[in-house]
Amino acid sequence: MSEILIQTMFNPRVASMKVSATLAMSGRAKQLRREGHPVIALSAGEPDFDTPAPIAEAGIQAIREGFTNYTQNQGMIDLRERISRKFERDNGLDYAPGQILCSNGAKQSVALAVGVLCGEGDEVLIPAPYWVSYPEMARFAGATPVPMTTTVETDYRITPAMLEDAITDKTRLLIHCSPSNPTGSVYTPEEAEALAEVLRRHEQVYIISDEIYEHVVYDAEHVAFAALPGMKERTITINGFSKCFAMTGWRLGYMAGPEAIVKEAAKVQSQFTSAPSSITQRAGIAALDMDFEPVRMMVAAFRERRDYVLGRLAAIDGVQCPKPEGAFYLFPQVSAYYGTTAPSGRRIDNSEDLCFYLLEEHNVALVPGHAFGGPDGARLSYAASMNDLEEALNRIETGLAALR
Ligand SMILES: Cc1ncc(COP(=O)(O)O)c(C=O)c1O
Repeated sequence: MSEILIQTMFNPRVASMKVSATLAMSGRAKQLRREGHPVIALSAGEPDFDTPAPIAEAGIQAIREGFTNYTQNQGMIDLRERISRKFERDNGLDYAPGQILCSNGAKQSVALAVGVLCGEGDEVLIPAPYWVSYPEMARFAGATPVPMTTTVETDYRITPAMLEDAITDKTRLLIHCSPSNPTGSVYTPEEAEALAEVLRRHEQVYIISDEIYEHVVYDAEHVAFAALPGMKERTITINGFSKCFAMTGWRLGYMAGPEAIVKEAAKVQSQFTSAPSSITQRAGIAALDMDFEPVRMMVAAFRERRDYVLGRLAAIDGVQCPKPEGAFYLFPQVSAYYGTTAPSGRRIDNSEDLCFYLLEEHNVALVPGHAFGGPDGARLSYAASMNDLEEALNRIETGLAALR
């Protein structure tokens, strides 16, 4: 069906929505692999570890026991009580179970929060490079995403002045993500407080604080945005199990915030999807009860890989990359290679050209930066084995060196 026909036949907000670039790139990499190409994919946003055994066992046990019915729409009370304790233990935040909503992945929680908080005529501030879904969710809600563009010079973090300048009478929401996907940058407590200070002067602005990489931090302290003075009443905290517990396929995330907002989100969830799977929720309980050692081991492995990949990138001419303190992504600036030509005759004019060149001619998958509102860069996920990272970096080095 032609693009024009699609635009006229369907809901324009759906027709104009882009497919998630990360999923699209991972899909293309998988397809090439199926066709026999030895592709190394550094494009997926998921840990390359198995779900820790006690969590998996709890899921199996739930099935064996026949714990396979619908649960409460907002999520099982046992699970929400544990999440409430987690907030108290890790973030010093007091959320009653009624202020918590469990959803099918954190992605659903973000979409619900955006949909509840903003609509037609509202502006949503989004630091760029951003997680690909934020602007699409804002647009789907009828609001206008307003990117605040950061660069390598500020380690991809916005400054209080940038925030102040971007706020207008129409600003309804700021989507804050620390540690960040796609850059890995983490705001220090002082930097987060400086943003909160600006927000205290603009009472109409709500904050969605996406903290899904909370535990994947290296030499940095994670700041729960809602714990900053004056922010709890205006912040919806998003978190989930996918990244810290290697549970991407289980689909479990949550939001916590002012009860009135959470209730509205629960209402929408009740009409659209209902609660997450009962089996998954049991597994989520086990994750929160579990000893944290598997998570610490995973983070230690990520740190080693980050350092290795950063070292390799630093040795490549024209590539610049700040040292991120969290998540498992790097966002190297690669624009020095735009305007070049590959030996095959392929022109490289932007991040998409460069990533498709590296994928199709050198069998390594990155995600083009333009999808994240960072057209000068590309996202590299180092959630891959050291062997794969070493080989992928060899290929990237060779591929870039061949460009003229
Ligand atoms: C910043 C951020 N938020 C939310 C999500 C959604 O995670 P999930 O829906 O798997 O819980 C992701 C996943 O890539 C992410 O990177």
